[in-house]
Amino acid sequence: MSSKAIEWGLLPDTAESVDGRLVIGGCDVIDVVEEFGTPVFIYDEEHLRRRCREAVAAFGEGVAYASKAFLCKAMAKVAHEAGMHIDVATSGEMHVALAAGVPGGRLVFHGNNKSSDELATAIDVGINRIVVDSFDEMDRIDALVAAGRPAPHILLRINPGIEAHTHEYLQTGVPDSKFGFPLTDGIAAQAIDRAVTSVSMQYQGLHAHIGSQVFDVDSYGRAIEAVARFVKESNADEFSIGGGLGVAYVEGEEADSITTWADRIFNAVTASGISARVLAEPGRSIVAQAAVTAYTIGTIKVVPNVRTYVAVDGGISENPRPVLYGSGYEAMLPRSSDSDRPLRARIVGKHCESGDIIVREADLPADVKVGDTLCTPVTGAYGHSMASNYNKVARPAVVFVCDGEARLVVERETMDDLLAKDVG
Ligand code: LLP
Repeated sequence: MSSKAIEWGLLPDTAESVDGRLVIGGCDVIDVVEEFGTPVFIYDEEHLRRRCREAVAAFGEGVAYASKAFLCKAMAKVAHEAGMHIDVATSGEMHVALAAGVPGGRLVFHGNNKSSDELATAIDVGINRIVVDSFDEMDRIDALVAAGRPAPHILLRINPGIEAHTHEYLQTGVPDSKFGFPLTDGIAAQAIDRAVTSVSMQYQGLHAHIGSQVFDVDSYGRAIEAVARFVKESNADEFSIGGGLGVAYVEGEEADSITTWADRIFNAVTASGISARVLAEPGRSIVAQAAVTAYTIGTIKVVPNVRTYVAVDGGISENPRPVLYGSGYEAMLPRSSDSDRPLRARIVGKHCESGDIIVREADLPADVKVGDTLCTPVTGAYGHSMASNYNKVARPAVVFVCDGEARLVVERETMDDLLAKDVG
């Protein structure tokens, strides 16, 4: 962190400073806030479309947007219109994607514990791929097909046993994982044998996702090397590397573009002798930098000789990432987007616990005051999608901005919504 103005590269693609005010998608952020209130997620629609198109250009047909990163009907439409498939990890995500008009044939279904009902729905909507994660799931698919459903196209999720350099909770390919079939003890080989010979599954290939927010591309190389033999020996038509490309959240971090990531994946795949079609499922790298969250500052408290607390009207409920993963963010005032930020402060929310921290060490302009709008950039991924109603705080609105128009795509929850399912 420094006292300088916000690093512009952390903001959405179309962000500009007009007389010092932050403008995204041709919309002045403070005007958006006046119209829709705070907290609000403001997404740069052009940024979203560009990243989706970049993924399609880099990986080709079949690349899927990992919707767990951020999903609403408008987002599903953006990804679909750009030509991406959509990775859904639950029947809830599937429901939203279908409601957006995305055909079942463009969906990839994930999950380590899919129920028979979920699998049946997936087959009934003509799912593009089921990524099978366990022998129990195979039993359930067998039963559904025996009962008359068509055999779905499947990928098998393999756990390559690779430690990706990221937060422990974001690693999925380590030996001790609930995901996929381990390569050890012949388990993956057994799963492949069963899938290849089964009449209830149309085997397309393998899938290996090593984790999320991964900066070290060598981790992918090691995973590819570990599964290459199985891809080749099973004559897989497809090999999916999952998602996981890291993004920069704070000043000084550097991340690969989707294009560079794809190039590196293709190089590793070629080096390992795999000729299957390479697929991927980026989530974070599509949406993270597309959004800022805008808050209103309600309280500024100086604790002498300790620190300054700046409290905003949200917190752990719409951004649990700092407390869950120790994630860092930057903060800025959209009224003074070019200003130096010499004041060190902790940005906290309004929830009743001390862990309710949005930015542990933020830099702000010296004249920050109660009533200011404050923005946290790079909050487009795993914020809205992981938002909760903790302390019965209503979830924020989501607004897409594009070409000077601000469009409400998810309404702010109301107090009545908090009681909608409470039947007393
Ligand atoms: N494919 C699979 C099978 C996944 O499990 C994930 C993420 C992705 C693709 C997309 O990964 P991405 O490109 O977004 O890194 N809540 C955490 C992230 C959990 C990621 C779970 N799986 C966070 O806030 O950092």
